[in-house]
Amino acid sequence: MKILIIGTGYVGLATGIAFAKKGNKVFFYDKVKQKIKLLGSGRLFFYEPQIQSALIELLNTPSISFHYDIREIPKDVDAIFICVGTPILRNGSTNLNAMISALHEIEKNFIANTTIVIKSTINPKDYAEIQKNISLERFHLAVNPEFLSEGNALEDTLKPARIVIGTNDEYAKNVLEKLYDSFDAPKIFTDPLSAIIIKYASNSFLAVKISFINEIANLSEKIGASIDDIALGIGLDPRIGREFLKAGIGFGGSCLPKDTKNISKYAKELGQELRIIEAAYKINERQYKIVIEKLNKHLGSLNSRKIAIFGLSFKGNTDDLRNSVSLKIISELQKEGAVLKLHDYKSFEKAKKIFRNLLISNDPYTVSKGTEAIIITTDWKDYQTLDWTRIKQLMSGNLVVDGRNILDKNILRSLGFWYEGIGRK
Ligand code: UGA
Repeated sequence: MKILIIGTGYVGLATGIAFAKKGNKVFFYDKVKQKIKLLGSGRLFFYEPQIQSALIELLNTPSISFHYDIREIPKDVDAIFICVGTPILRNGSTNLNAMISALHEIEKNFIANTTIVIKSTINPKDYAEIQKNISLERFHLAVNPEFLSEGNALEDTLKPARIVIGTNDEYAKNVLEKLYDSFDAPKIFTDPLSAIIIKYASNSFLAVKISFINEIANLSEKIGASIDDIALGIGLDPRIGREFLKAGIGFGGSCLPKDTKNISKYAKELGQELRIIEAAYKINERQYKIVIEKLNKHLGSLNSRKIAIFGLSFKGNTDDLRNSVSLKIISELQKEGAVLKLHDYKSFEKAKKIFRNLLISNDPYTVSKGTEAIIITTDWKDYQTLDWTRIKQLMSGNLVVDGRNILDKNILRSLGFWYEGIGRK
């Protein structure tokens, strides 16, 4: 099939590359010329190793091509996947500008009978708006939410836990059925609104799980219990499952905070409060403060105290800084007058553009030098295998606040660190 992908972020690239690997011809279109030029030279503008190597493999083959002029793309593509960003506004509603602009370009440039597939996350109200901006007599419309996780984007797309297709249009259903035929995953064919809610409910459920375990961790800390054992004890019940029970400083990223806020606002407009989802969001909004409280407990005032932040991206294995809890902590510590040094393996260059006056490095030893405390804010696995004996010698103090519970507390304590996790004994 001939597929057009509009939007070349994580979702667009992972989706398009997966279809190309399955033998389709994929055209990528993005308005931002710089992005297309970079991709055309085999480079990504974010860190995502699986997509990077697949891009190199497919580049200069007939399977993929990159365009910033939509008129270069054949008018008779079988399906157009809209994968543009749908960020939220301050009030929680969706900013549909990129989506509407994509729909107008489709309307102008493509022939009738093409199937338009909405991959971007949109709520039911947005869907109604989308329907107003495309002639449904000319085009077929479907919703096909994505469930990929950054850091594992291509693998998640090629081997998804499920494929959800929401459409009332038989033609669109057939096109997508054929396109996804070779994907070995359960397929759910449903109506558009149900597909949309599956996406929001999935992300919200993950958010609820995280906030739930964080509340239990906070309790566990008060009574001197161990959250690691508790999470294991809960998670081994197959009805609950072990995933997303890692306690810490809370969830960040471009999806969980945004989607929980967006769906809560949408439901409220209908007169229904989504109380559990709202609670998960609110708990998350303050969970990071636990780190500040721990620092205050050990160091007193943070004014002029030298502190290292280990991890800037919203989770390990990505350089994405969007809604990173680490950035919230940095901003709070700056307000308190702390002297900060920042470390990240991949996002340190991006971070330099935000924090121009701070020392930022990809070398944890340089960052540790002379600091009184280290805070682990991102779950980079590499922190587990650092030479902590060397770090202890480089520091002027001995406090480690592990906001992601990834270090072995017994080892750190035996090396002379004052170790604090989240909900760990
Ligand atoms: C999330 C969902 O997991 C994907 O299924 C979904 O497709 C995606 O949003 C999306 O809507 O596009 P992602 O934003 O890449 O994926 O990140 P997650 O792996 O879900 O992690 C989100 C945050 O939760 C991170 O800050 C992570 O550190 C935190 N987290 C995760 C915890 O604090 N504890 C856990 O047990 C798991």
